[in-house]
Amino acid sequence: MDSIKIFAPATVANVACGFDIFGLAVDNPGDEVIVSKRNDNQVVIKEITGDEGKLTYDSSKNTVTVPIIKYLQKIGSGQGFDIVLNKKMPLGSGLGSSSASSVAGVFAANELLGKPLNTKDLLPFAMEGERVACGSAHADNVAPALLGGFVVIRSYAPLDIFQIKTPENLYVSIVHPDIEVNTKDARHILKNEVSMKKAISQMGNVAGMVAGLMSSDFDLIGRSMVDLIIEPIRSILIPQFFEVKMAAEEAGALGCSISGAGPSIFAFSEGREKAEKVIVAMKNEFTRVGINTNTFVSSINNLGPKILD
Ligand code: HSE
Repeated sequence: MDSIKIFAPATVANVACGFDIFGLAVDNPGDEVIVSKRNDNQVVIKEITGDEGKLTYDSSKNTVTVPIIKYLQKIGSGQGFDIVLNKKMPLGSGLGSSSASSVAGVFAANELLGKPLNTKDLLPFAMEGERVACGSAHADNVAPALLGGFVVIRSYAPLDIFQIKTPENLYVSIVHPDIEVNTKDARHILKNEVSMKKAISQMGNVAGMVAGLMSSDFDLIGRSMVDLIIEPIRSILIPQFFEVKMAAEEAGALGCSISGAGPSIFAFSEGREKAEKVIVAMKNEFTRVGINTNTFVSSINNLGPKILD
């Protein structure tokens, strides 16, 4: 096999209470990457579509190529690749756009080389793509994009991640308002310290979320969708945030919070029908004030990257 086309999914990081430690993959949107073998050892970006000219063609700086280059160095391969990156989701959206590209690229390269590494072992390389994108190699987007499902990062040093089972009937409604939030900036505005009182509440919610997901206790999931640390600060970057949150909850969502660094907002619902109702209510709050949106409704994607061709 000399060429392969891979889809890697968008992700919702943080999932309300789990800043940098929770992430989940959704079915759509996602990025597509075509990787083809070259006859030399260069890694070259041939084409990028869907980015409105915003992404660099410099392989040492693009989130799709940096993980591939690090991966090739690690396994000691002299194989070169041509890359075509089709961005199928908005940049700076809070949906793990850079992670989807990183994961698709390194997953494709590993496939073309006959899978010398297990999928899980590709994670540190994909995380390097995040470092390029926003200066921090967090794993809560790349891990679910790579492995699918709902991922918990128990520790970063050493890296220790695990997946938890989620209820089949759990649906995610995502609204992406047409504004851009730079992840680096959205991390920069956060405080370095947290009070004991807030830490205790947040830990309770993290534990509640894990237990709720694993036992399909939808009420407990909803009660645990509380973020006392990040949401109060980042919500100022998102116009209409509290209106959208209230509308989602009034329409029957279990809970609602910022997706990743924002500006996308996500809600959990029990069942697709409810999730479809919720997304209409969320979208309406942006439409009312003249902000365009993209919307997505999805169950949790347990597959991760998919081979398309
Ligand atoms: N956990 C990260 C953050 C996800 O919230 O900054 C965004 O990439």
